[in-house]
Amino acid sequence: MSLSPSTLELFDQYVIPTYGRFAVRLARGSGCRVWDEDGREYLDFGAGIAVSSLGHCHPRVVERMRQQLGELVHTSNLYYTRPQGELAKRLVDIVGAPGKIFFCNSGAEANEALYKLSRKFGNEANGFARTSGGTATGGTANPDAPLRRGIITMNGSFHGRTLGGIAATGQDKVKKGFEPMVEGFTHIPFNDCDSLNDAVDAPGTVAVMLEPVQGEGGIYPVSAEYLRTARALCDRRSTLLLFDEVQCGLGRTGDWNGWDTLAPDVKPDAVSWAKGIAGGFPLGAIWVSSRPVQMRSGEVKPLCDLLGPGSHGTTFGGTPLICAGALEVLSIIEDERLLENARNQGRHAVEALRALQSPWIREVRGVGLMLGIELAADFGSRCALPAGKAPSIYMVERLHEAGLLTIPSGTHILRWLPPLNVQTTEVEEAVRILSSVLASLPCH
Ligand SMILES: Cc1ncc(COP(=O)(O)O)c(C=O)c1O
Repeated sequence: MSLSPSTLELFDQYVIPTYGRFAVRLARGSGCRVWDEDGREYLDFGAGIAVSSLGHCHPRVVERMRQQLGELVHTSNLYYTRPQGELAKRLVDIVGAPGKIFFCNSGAEANEALYKLSRKFGNEANGFARTSGGTATGGTANPDAPLRRGIITMNGSFHGRTLGGIAATGQDKVKKGFEPMVEGFTHIPFNDCDSLNDAVDAPGTVAVMLEPVQGEGGIYPVSAEYLRTARALCDRRSTLLLFDEVQCGLGRTGDWNGWDTLAPDVKPDAVSWAKGIAGGFPLGAIWVSSRPVQMRSGEVKPLCDLLGPGSHGTTFGGTPLICAGALEVLSIIEDERLLENARNQGRHAVEALRALQSPWIREVRGVGLMLGIELAADFGSRCALPAGKAPSIYMVERLHEAGLLTIPSGTHILRWLPPLNVQTTEVEEAVRILSSVLASLPCH
């Protein structure tokens, strides 16, 4: 009789090892909790890396998806489907400024669409058109003006794993072994207005792209002053201001838009989303402003129409099934007042974590339910960790043993990214688990 292979054996033999996985084999979930194959329960404070915004198997989402599964799953983008149109309208309303949406499948793919938008703008447009009283008056088209192809991104940023994504990302570790990089990306220090000024002024710069709260980089919010400076500089130079809201958008910071939590008066020219947008179903999207653009050809047209028919696409983007799910997720966030919950629970978590006054914690920071717990710089040496074992990974493993899922970031940061409907009792339980793990560390 042959025994069927274990889950770990299946992965060892058949799954390409791009991920360093933790030895946790998850089988089911409900609300903020998941259970492994042996029935062991965990409190899920990672939510699939900021994806499962309503936790697991929210009954309204399950019901809506069941209904859509029985109606229409996929059609291709050769045809019109109601859920995609409705979701596009919902997202434009969320941004709160006129524009249009393109749907894709992931964050990296959404960002690719932003890089392509930037290329189109730099190759085919002179810049933003002049407006008077909200109406485009056009300017003088200059077909011979130098092309602009440079995209500025931030040190420590993360924009995805495609070739464009790793070139855009401001971290060397994602690039190693994949050289040469896609041309045209320059990285500057995050939150440094002088460097931004120089970079926007440099000839050939066409776009500035940033995460309003750096997620993979370790939970670092951009300052309001920086966002306002970026907007003013980009306007002055007819440069696109692009926000990557893949991790911080759609509720995580306690507002629909991450930038609204930081500087609500600033509006980008385009935004990318993924992760929490559909609460766990694979969906990415971009919003592009309808701001008028002066084309080299003399025409004036909205920025959101630059990616015209035949210029971009994807087979699966915006299927009726996934769009129906995303619409339901966004409605639940509104109906259950989860933006407010994210703000309140985030504040409560930060206060409770700071109150621990643990010598092992250097800093607790965060915005809404995007929390970073930075471990002490000497954590590794005082705990005599094995060579090569990052303190963040060590702690995440200890927390797994204690029944709490969290996400490491770099060598010293733990991220808490719980579902937006997390309850006070669950926040307190997570703090208790962390506190008892810290108290039992075999360290001096
Ligand atoms: C800010 C940001 N942008 C882009 C991405 C890439 O998204 P995806 O993994 O869906 O391609 C991520 C993923 O962590 C992210 O945090």
